[in-house]
Amino acid sequence: MLSVENAHVTFQVAQTKKWPWSKPGIVHAVNGISFQLEAGKTLGIVGESGCGKSTLIRSVAGLTPLQAGTVQLDGETVDYRNRASMQRLRATMQMIFQDPIASLNPRMTIREIVVEPLAFFKPDMGAEERNTAALAMLERVGIPPAQANRFPHEFSGGQCQRIGIARALVAGPKVLLCDEPVSALDVSIQAQVVNLLKELQREMGLAIVFVAHDLGVVRHISDDVLVMYVGAPMEQAPASALVAHPQHPYTQALLSAVPVPDPRVRIAPQMLEGDLPSPLNLPPGCLFESRCPKAMPKCGSARPPMVTSGQHRAACVLLEDMSEKEAALTH
Ligand SMILES: Nc1ncnc2c1ncn2[C@@H]1O[C@H](COP(=O)(O)OP(=O)(O)OP(=O)(O)O)[C@@H](O)[C@H]1O
Ligand code: SF4
Ligand SMILES: [Mg+2]
Repeated sequence: MLSVENAHVTFQVAQTKKWPWSKPGIVHAVNGISFQLEAGKTLGIVGESGCGKSTLIRSVAGLTPLQAGTVQLDGETVDYRNRASMQRLRATMQMIFQDPIASLNPRMTIREIVVEPLAFFKPDMGAEERNTAALAMLERVGIPPAQANRFPHEFSGGQCQRIGIARALVAGPKVLLCDEPVSALDVSIQAQVVNLLKELQREMGLAIVFVAHDLGVVRHISDDVLVMYVGAPMEQAPASALVAHPQHPYTQALLSAVPVPDPRVRIAPQMLEGDLPSPLNLPPGCLFESRCPKAMPKCGSARPPMVTSGQHRAACVLLEDMSEKEAALTH
């Protein structure tokens, strides 16, 4: 349903305010991300703040320009400069944002907010039909239709996220991009919204990209998980395999920080020391080298490519060595 191949996104930023004519810096926000997603499946994307998660999905949605890479949606390559291709993309792919209240227009009632995509994507529908479909969608996400004439500020954060989901799904997209949709909500409401998304996915066969910085939430909802660090892929694997046997030292550190709800299980969290590399000046070798407890001299010479080992794909020289041994054993 969705295939992203070698996506790169950069931003130009002024290096100093003092000398406006100085050469701008280049922020490498997304560095070579690839993934495939089937209908009815969820890809979780995790990584620390600033690692490029939002930039990646915003560029896939066409909200930020992709510098390089290709995106295929439902078998068709997206041409972000072509109006017809973008219209098809918007009808097929919708997005849910991190701040549920800011993502709704405060001057519109929630009925108008949910009717609007139908007016845009389904111009053949009559006004009454649109209204009925919008109220049914609101009811489906748990908002009583009797409240449809209220404004967003009259709802809680969790209810606003439900309204955002209704707006995104009312016109029947096939792909839903969720940018940290529950991180602004408290834990019990997070679970309700995640469960609602899973139910809607089953009913509509949606392909979901679910971005979060919390591996605990992501592993609950995802079929596959992609771990990012400074814009680059570190590890990708089915969620159960990634949690049970993380291969990349960065994934291992992230997992050790996820609380386990069993007091008998004690996992010492691995504290990551050292600084993240600046996205303005990326090192030539492994991006995780400055904080990796397993770093060795060869890690700094060249960027390790993603290699496959069992169900995992990871960018680490340790995996390269393992996959060479696996290849030698099979020959
Ligand atoms: N418009 C922009 N101009 C310049 N740099 C930007 C811009 N948008 C994002 N960046 C930079 O790109 C990098 C990735 O940012 P992004 O917002 O995608 O991270 P994120 O993983 O979504 O973080 P968070 O978890 O905090 O939402 C950061 O270094 C950020 O400073
Ligand atoms: S390549 Fe080296 S520095 Fe990078 S994650 Fe693997 S062991 Fe650590
Ligand atoms: Mg973000």
